[in-house]
Amino acid sequence: MDANKKFKRTLITTALPYANGPVHIGHLAGVYVPADIYARYLRLKGEDVIMIGGSDEHGVPITIKAKREGVTPQDIVDRYHGIIKDSMKGLGISFDIYSRTTSDIHHETASEFFRHLYDKGEFIEKSSMQLYDEAAGQFLADRYVTGECPHCHNPQAYGDQCEKCGTSLSPTDLINPKSALTDTTPEMRETFHWYLPLDKWQDHLSQWILEGHKEWRSNVYGQCKSWLDMGLQPRAVSRDLDWGVPVPVEGADGKVLYVWFDAPIGYISNTKELLPDEWEKWWKDPETRIINFIGKDNIVFHCIVFPAMLSAYGDGYQLPDNVPANEFLNLEGDKISTSRNWAVWLHEYLEEFPGKQDVLRYVLTANAPETKDNDFTWADFQARNNSELVAILGNFVNRVVVLTGKYFGGTVPDAGNLEPIDTDALAEIASLKEKMTELLDGFHFRDAQREAMNMARAGNKYLQETEPWKMWKTDPERVATVLHTALQIVANIAIAFEPFLPFMSEKLCSILGMKDLSWDKLGRNDLISSGSILGESALLFEKIEDAVVEAQVAKLQKAKEENAKQAWKPEPIAENVDIEFFSKCDIRVGTIMECTKVPKADKLLQFKIDDGTGQPRTIVSGIAKYYDPEQLVGKQVCYIANLPARKLKGVESCGMILSAVNSDGSLTVIGPTGPVTPGAKVG
Ligand code: 2FM
Ligand code: ZN
Repeated sequence: MDANKKFKRTLITTALPYANGPVHIGHLAGVYVPADIYARYLRLKGEDVIMIGGSDEHGVPITIKAKREGVTPQDIVDRYHGIIKDSMKGLGISFDIYSRTTSDIHHETASEFFRHLYDKGEFIEKSSMQLYDEAAGQFLADRYVTGECPHCHNPQAYGDQCEKCGTSLSPTDLINPKSALTDTTPEMRETFHWYLPLDKWQDHLSQWILEGHKEWRSNVYGQCKSWLDMGLQPRAVSRDLDWGVPVPVEGADGKVLYVWFDAPIGYISNTKELLPDEWEKWWKDPETRIINFIGKDNIVFHCIVFPAMLSAYGDGYQLPDNVPANEFLNLEGDKISTSRNWAVWLHEYLEEFPGKQDVLRYVLTANAPETKDNDFTWADFQARNNSELVAILGNFVNRVVVLTGKYFGGTVPDAGNLEPIDTDALAEIASLKEKMTELLDGFHFRDAQREAMNMARAGNKYLQETEPWKMWKTDPERVATVLHTALQIVANIAIAFEPFLPFMSEKLCSILGMKDLSWDKLGRNDLISSGSILGESALLFEKIEDAVVEAQVAKLQKAKEENAKQAWKPEPIAENVDIEFFSKCDIRVGTIMECTKVPKADKLLQFKIDDGTGQPRTIVSGIAKYYDPEQLVGKQVCYIANLPARKLKGVESCGMILSAVNSDGSLTVIGPTGPVTPGAKVG
């Protein structure tokens, strides 16, 4: 059965990676390698297909990175867009276009999209209290706020999520929030935003997904179901920020489209950029099939939010036919992390493993996190290269090409009379094609690649059983038949592996003189003709030595050590001062002789301190909320002795008692841990 029968064309979209870092193997395994396999497969089938990619260049993390580096957000995205685009090309990811969301065409498209929904009355406008950084003069969106998670009490939770316990948060949920810009405590201020009322689309989306797409991967279907079961809520689609697509409405100064509103529209703008005259048929014709390749963290945006946006827009926009989201790939047992540098970066891999693009593609597909999180290890990388690509695939092709050279001077021999063992081998290849087709149509790329490898296994078994090298002297005609058959298997391998290992497939095509590969021809026994001459033989795969992978493991280990060191190095939390400056502060220890409340001042306590001079020193301190006066009498405390005297509520205060500020804002006075002579200097 042809699963694609009712469609005329397929639009493949790939999640747009944020341009705030290079791409790593997690991105590749989750999105780009499977999407590329699928696009190449459909092209081999002669289908009308385009694959759309691009960088996601808006959002708060890009602005934070820019601030930290002292450059503009545009500098950041220019840098990483270039690296990402080049490295994807280097790995053979066959985008028809790889563009970016800072392009003019994207800004125009996203802006028009918003304005159309606005004019149709599809948004609601709501005011809310948001955190505002007085010092920076701006509202703080999501990641600009950090503080204590109200659930697990991680002190470093972000305003949109606690990365420790995974809870989704809003900045106002955080305990003791701090601005990531100025480290000051933000205040609440009223602002307004536009919201897309997802609840309006609840029934429509439930019908479309829960009834209409039961065939979706269970992780995708399950996540959608749980969102729908919880009941959809309006979602803000704008932010107070100066980096992004400006909200195209009067009175919206300082507001941009929320990055998750503009990013998926990037799929549309990139299609427009590629096909300015016929982009609409790729989005609005029901005979177009749209497939979104994404990672599991993007499911809600692609299955709920973007479809609601497209439905609200109307005008024939089609919803995706499938969203084959992958789970996550871990690295050597740990979550891949950009900030901890726990990753294998594509651009570095391409430099360090020149000519080995297919090895990485193979390993990532063999281990693809299609149904559960999987782990990439360098040991597995080496083993799959050495015992599968070299020992099975490379070995089979090499033996056939070498024997043909040796016995027939590199000319493809005649088929002669095929015996059952020959026709059985060819029949097995044809049946593997059927399996592969079904698996690829169902987005089971890992299993499909395994079946392609089974073609090479079948080829090796065939050579092992026929042993042509033993018959040359006694039965050269039989040797001709066997090598002719084996060469047809090699030709089948060139087609079957093209979606997975395009670099190898190209080499095989040049050896075999094959052009115009097509999936239709896969399984046939007449792919190369007798009498044709084989081209230059080329090394397909080579063994990877222990030292090579050991170096990679050591590199990761180094990243881990660097991280540990950084974790130990305290980040400066205030501006540095030099020792001279510090020594000017005369900090001393004194004993509290008396403590009373200052009349008509709720916050103030008045102290008489023995400072060793024989004359009691008066200090007023704003800690009445935290102590009863009698609690402190007899205690020793630290105070600054050389501040100019000042009057507080009519009492002259000669110094300042030092207190620590607790996470809830309460104060605890600071003193020595054992008895100290009154007046002793601290330093
Ligand atoms: O999660 C991410 O990396 C996002 N930049 C994906 C965006 S996908 C699409 F909507 F553009
Ligand atoms: Zn938490």
